[in-house]
Amino acid sequence: MNADAFVYRDNQLFAEDIAVSTLAERFGTPTYVYSRRMLESAYCAFDDAFSAVDHLVCFAVKANSNIGVLNLLARLGSGFDIVSGGELKRVLKAGGSPDKIVFSGVAKSVADIRLALETNILCFNVESGAELERIQQIAAACNRTARISFRVNPDVDAQTHPYISTGLRENKFGVAFEDALALYQRAAAMTHIEIHGIDCHIGSQLTSVSPFVDALQRVLGLVDALRATGIELKHIDIGGGLGVRYRDEIPPTPAEYAHQLLAQLASRNLKVLCEPGRAISANAGIMITRVEYLKDNGDRHFALVDAGMNDQIRPSLYGAWMKLEPVSVRSDVGTAVYDVVGPVCETGDFLGKERELTIAAGDLLVLRDAGAYGFVMASNYNSRGRPAEVIVDGDMAHLVRQREGFDDLIRGEQLLPGHDHG
Ligand code: LLP
Repeated sequence: MNADAFVYRDNQLFAEDIAVSTLAERFGTPTYVYSRRMLESAYCAFDDAFSAVDHLVCFAVKANSNIGVLNLLARLGSGFDIVSGGELKRVLKAGGSPDKIVFSGVAKSVADIRLALETNILCFNVESGAELERIQQIAAACNRTARISFRVNPDVDAQTHPYISTGLRENKFGVAFEDALALYQRAAAMTHIEIHGIDCHIGSQLTSVSPFVDALQRVLGLVDALRATGIELKHIDIGGGLGVRYRDEIPPTPAEYAHQLLAQLASRNLKVLCEPGRAISANAGIMITRVEYLKDNGDRHFALVDAGMNDQIRPSLYGAWMKLEPVSVRSDVGTAVYDVVGPVCETGDFLGKERELTIAAGDLLVLRDAGAYGFVMASNYNSRGRPAEVIVDGDMAHLVRQREGFDDLIRGEQLLPGHDHG
C-alpha cells in the first residue's frame, strides 16, 4: 500500500517530515507539493503488479509534467506516454529513454512527428488513416522507420465523467474497431512503417476493472484476427485510466487491476504496456492555499482563498470533489459550512462547496490529491502567475518550479512600435 505522506502530527499537517506551514512560509502560496516517497511507491506498485510478464509502465506525462517529477520516475526506469513535442522534450530533459516513449494523441503535428522520429521513440499510437499516411510520408522524407500501434476504439462505456470518457464510438479518439483490420493491412504495405503493437485507452478515473476487461477482450479478438492475416504484434498497450480515491471511491489497486488483465493475456506472447497517469501522481500531491478573507452573503459562508480556478480547474471544469483540509487543527474559532472560492472573476471559480471547516482568515488549507491534472492544467487567467511546485523528500524540500512573476506573464508580448508609453 502507498502510505499517506500527508498526515497530522500534533494537529499540524505534514508533508513527509516537513510541516506544511513551513513549506508555505518558505515557498509562499498557492504551491503544489509532491511527495517523492508516494510518487515512487505508486510507480513501483504498477511495475510490481505487471512483474510476471515482460512489461513497460509509461507514465502519462499529461498528468504531471514537471521535469523534477519525470526525473524521479525516469530514475526508476519508467517509460512515458506523451501527447506533444513539448512533452517529448520534457521527458528527454528529465533523463527519460527514447526507447521507452509512446506517442498518443489525435492530431499529431508534422513537427512533432518529425521530432519523435528523429528521437527514435518506441512507438506512435496512431489514431487515423490520415495520420498513418502523414507518418509514412515524414518517415520516408527523413529516412527513418516509424514503429506504430493503432489506437482502437473498442466502444465500451468506461462509466466515468463524460469529459474524460474516451472509448465510446461517439468520442473523437482512436480508429473505429471495424476499420482496424484494413488499416493494419494498409500499414503493412508501407515502406517506412513497422507494425509493432495495438493500443486502447477508454477513459480516466475508472473505479472498476470490468470496462478494462471488456475492452481488452475486444482488442484481443482483433489481435487474433490480425494473426490470421499474418500480422504478428509485439506488444499490447492497455492505456491508462485507473482511478484514485478523492472522496469515498474504492478503486482497484494496481495489483488487482493487473491481476485481472493479465489473466486475459495469459499464454500470449505480447509485451504489456500501460499508460497510468492519475494513479501514479494524484494522491502524491497537494496544493497549499491561504484563506485571505471570510465573508457571509446572507446565510452563505465563503472562505476566499488565494488559489483560483486558474491554479486548479478540476472542481470548476468537471464538478470534481477534492478534499480540503486545514493545515492546523484549531478549536478556538467557530465551525461553519463554507464555499471555498478563489479570487478569479467567475462564478465557477471554486475549490469546494459546502465544506465544514474550523478556520479563521489567514489560515492555510490544502487541497488533497492534486498531483495529477493540477499544475499542468493551470493558466494565467486574470494575469495570475502560476503556482510554485515543490518536491518533498523526507525532511528536505526542493523547489522544482518557481512561482511565476510579472516577467513570466508578459514574456513574448510587445508594444506596437512608435508609441510613447512613458
Ligand atoms: N493514455 C491516454 C491516451 C490518455 O488520453 C490518458 C488521459 C492517459 C493515458 C492517462 O489516463 P489516467 O491514467 O491519468 O486516467 N483532466 C482530466 C483527466 C483527463 C485524462 C485524459 N487522458 C481530469 O482532471 O480528471
